Amino acid sequence: MERAPMSALIVAVDGPAGSGKSSVSKAAARELGFDYLDTGAAYRAVTWHVLDRGIDPQDAASVIGSLDSFVYAIGTDPDDYFVRVGQTDVTEAIREARVNSAVSFTARVPQVRAHVNAMFRRLIESSPKDGIIAEGRDITTVVAPDAGVRILLTASEEARASRRAAELPQHSGTQTATALLARDAADSKVSDFMVAADGVHTVDSTDLSYAQTIDAVVALIREGQK
Ligand code: DC
Repeated sequence: MERAPMSALIVAVDGPAGSGKSSVSKAAARELGFDYLDTGAAYRAVTWHVLDRGIDPQDAASVIGSLDSFVYAIGTDPDDYFVRVGQTDVTEAIREARVNSAVSFTARVPQVRAHVNAMFRRLIESSPKDGIIAEGRDITTVVAPDAGVRILLTASEEARASRRAAELPQHSGTQTATALLARDAADSKVSDFMVAADGVHTVDSTDLSYAQTIDAVVALIREGQK
């Protein structure tokens, strides 16, 4: 008898800027044969689109107006990750400092959140893999309240700032640290992501290497699969 397809195990990973949640989630997904959904990339893509059209990201009404022409795609295969807005590949461009400093403004517009959340739900529901690691702050509360495993990835401010500085060598370390803390402060107005809620596993990567952090996350997910 044919078995009904099992729905994918949903793993939600959250954490502050620079905690390594994107790269760790992607690597863990690759190791487990799971899909990977970078929800922050959708907010970054909206922001890139807004800046590309010369719209002030703080002007919520114009940001909302720009959603009509916002067509985007995000790859969920960890080995074929891409972000596109229209025909433009913005995988690299959405990591630029100008997007970093504007993304909190667009991400706090409720219409923007509703717009991208609909896409996230579709991508999660249509995953053909055994699981999907969705990375982002409101996955367990808004997008997929039934996520089977929930992980908060943290690291000290110093560790996060130095990792982010290594990603943006063209900027000064102080500038990068200031921008990162400013974004944490702005994002924490939308949700408290520094404190683990009940049932959420914390992985503190301050003293872990990249490989050790991936191992810790994979171990928690395997535990959740049992
Ligand atoms: O994880 P990231 O740095 O790529 O996220 C980019 C921005 O998007 C960040 O400022 C917070 C916001 N974000 C959000 O509000 N909700 C999510 N699910 C994911 C990201």
